[in-house]
Amino acid sequence: MTVDDRAPLDVVRELFKAAFGGEPTGVWSAPGRVNLIGEHIDYAGGCVLPFAIDRRTFVAARLHPDPMVRVVSAQRPGEHVAIPYAEVDPRNARREWTDYVAGMLWAFRSTGTDVGGLELAVTSTVPVGAGLSSSAALECAVGAATADISGRPIPPANLARLAQSAENDYVGVPCGLLDQMAACMCRAGHALFFDTASGMMDHIPFDPERHELALLVIDTRASHAHSDGEYARRRETCRAAEKILSLPYLAALSPADLPTALRTLDDDVLRRRVRHVVTENARVHATVEALRDGRLRDVGPLLTASHISLRDDYEVSSPELDLAVDTALGAGALGARLTGGGFGGSVIALVPTNAAGLVVDAVRQRFAERGWASPSVITPRIAEGVRRDA
Ligand code: GLA
Repeated sequence: MTVDDRAPLDVVRELFKAAFGGEPTGVWSAPGRVNLIGEHIDYAGGCVLPFAIDRRTFVAARLHPDPMVRVVSAQRPGEHVAIPYAEVDPRNARREWTDYVAGMLWAFRSTGTDVGGLELAVTSTVPVGAGLSSSAALECAVGAATADISGRPIPPANLARLAQSAENDYVGVPCGLLDQMAACMCRAGHALFFDTASGMMDHIPFDPERHELALLVIDTRASHAHSDGEYARRRETCRAAEKILSLPYLAALSPADLPTALRTLDDDVLRRRVRHVVTENARVHATVEALRDGRLRDVGPLLTASHISLRDDYEVSSPELDLAVDTALGAGALGARLTGGGFGGSVIALVPTNAAGLVVDAVRQRFAERGWASPSVITPRIAEGVRRDA
């Protein structure tokens, strides 16, 4: 645990005591994530390469004999949500943040783990709406708490799958498994290679600092909230292409077979979507090779190529994301790309450590010229996945 994590731990304990009286049984936490590369291919059988960041969601929890789920959050002062456990069901989803909590309990119930009454206090240092998976962090922290205090611990990879089902079937967001797997499986100092088709995982050492590099996360503060319909449409397009090309999943198409496949498709949008998935998957493998060989600088151009593909072929970028990427590159970044679902949120930039200040200043300056909110920038420590803190 770092010094930075101690404050939220105290916050969540105090919050618990004030709301429910007495001590929680324990405190659990799960991190936000950055996806280094492998964007919009986790629902097409592709490979992804996220890492966990040192921004976490903490949950203090205790079982309660009344069949009620009571939740308070440090980010929602004064709000005290109480949901009868019997009403925890997707049909009763409230379209509020507490759906992530209720969704996890519902997902656990589907595995035979009934918690009944529960008291939960939550606090988070993961920025919301920045494309850093604050929702998966909440789901996975609640999930870990639920599993432990009900005496039915589950392997973290299974917890990730339960969290995905909470998000898909309760919250109603048709996401892939990238965010939840990152929150559950990442290790400090490593990126997580995850092949979504086979389920294979590997931990790849990733330490930009040792190479005199920094990985900046630039939150454009342009919200990605309205992206849901577009996200679902991208998924459907992938399904349609798989059918036409008779593939089990789109990323099964090899780069060598891409030109022939593209000739079979008569729709330009479909062609571009397919090209993104296949080339992005290849870029993930190239990135893993570069990391294994200690060629961290070679990751830069792969990041930029990913952004161009997401911007032009997959069409999930935004003016803010493009400006941040272009400006970072112009000011000395080795590579930059949007990370997460796109349409807003954050950009990552791989920069020589001594150019970091210049890059940040340049991006802020260009945003100010447009009259846009000043981006917030973090250089995250590469942290570990879900854990019990107390
Ligand atoms: C969101 C989804 C993920 C993934 C990314 C894009 O974060 O939750 O499953 O599809 O977008 O790579």
